[in-house]
Amino acid sequence: MPKIAYWNGRFVHPDDPVVPIEERGHQFGDGVYEVVRVYHGRPFLLHRHLLRLKRSLSAICIDNPHTDEEWAELVEDAIGRSDEQDAMVYLQVTRGIAERAHLFPAVQPSVCLTVRPVTAPALDARGSLLCLPDNRFADVWIKSINLLPNIAAKETAHRVGAVEALFVRNGVITEGSSSNAWFVRDGELWTAPDNRYILAGITRSFVLDLTERLGLAVHMEAIALEELATVDEIFMTGTTTEILPITAVFADARKMSYLKALPDLVKEPLVASVESVHTLWERPLHDGGLLTMKLQQAFRHVIADAASWPRV
Ligand SMILES: Cc1ncc(COP(=O)(O)O)c(C=O)c1O
Repeated sequence: MPKIAYWNGRFVHPDDPVVPIEERGHQFGDGVYEVVRVYHGRPFLLHRHLLRLKRSLSAICIDNPHTDEEWAELVEDAIGRSDEQDAMVYLQVTRGIAERAHLFPAVQPSVCLTVRPVTAPALDARGSLLCLPDNRFADVWIKSINLLPNIAAKETAHRVGAVEALFVRNGVITEGSSSNAWFVRDGELWTAPDNRYILAGITRSFVLDLTERLGLAVHMEAIALEELATVDEIFMTGTTTEILPITAVFADARKMSYLKALPDLVKEPLVASVESVHTLWERPLHDGGLLTMKLQQAFRHVIADAASWPRV
């Protein structure tokens, strides 16, 4: 349960049933969202989240209901009311309330926001990934609230003990279900390019800044599934994931072929049942993770210095 909830101009009790049935986000998933991490009571990289929000809104022709300054005031007000130092702010804008019909109605957008406490990942957190076909629509750069393939993939991954799904589109690794993927090979980094097939993460953009500061070479190129064996380190990035070192990558042993090509015609449930897991990549931690740790250290250093962050 979030600690703080806001709906269209007022703070409400998180249990209040405020969203009407004929609300476009509720009925069509007709909206976009952002998740902002709060460290030491300060929203992290809020200006970048607001920029991405603007892009997502304009991609689906919803007017931004607030200026950056108004957004910052709302977010800061909500954080202040929650009295949380470590939290996440969820903010969502949908097309609004109107009689259900596909064409866009001329109504005011709806805004909702929540603040909930977050426990930072343990310093020694590690995880594994399950490769799954990237069956999302082809414009995932828009941070749409339509997340059915993402939640189904995460659920499938968790059912085999992996922390995250690793999406593969036509044999190429795109990203995770709620995180971006990074690969280290011979001391250099690879991450998928900023195109329609990934959500360009705010954490990814920040890690790119860190690589520049540390003088690391980065290739904005996707890694093919077949190249995985040549990779030394893997980590995932995301607002709540932060920088997560990966120790193993699995795939469904019976279905490797469906990762290499377009999905076949057989209709399968989105939450796939994976019976036999095959390990595609594995690295014991003592055998690597040096560059990942270096970036984690640099990341934590910035977080510790929250007082110096710009507002928006
Ligand atoms: C599909 C997807 N990719 C990447 C990310 C990471 O983005 P960010 O670093 O902005 O949280 C997310 C975050 O939710 C996501 O849903």
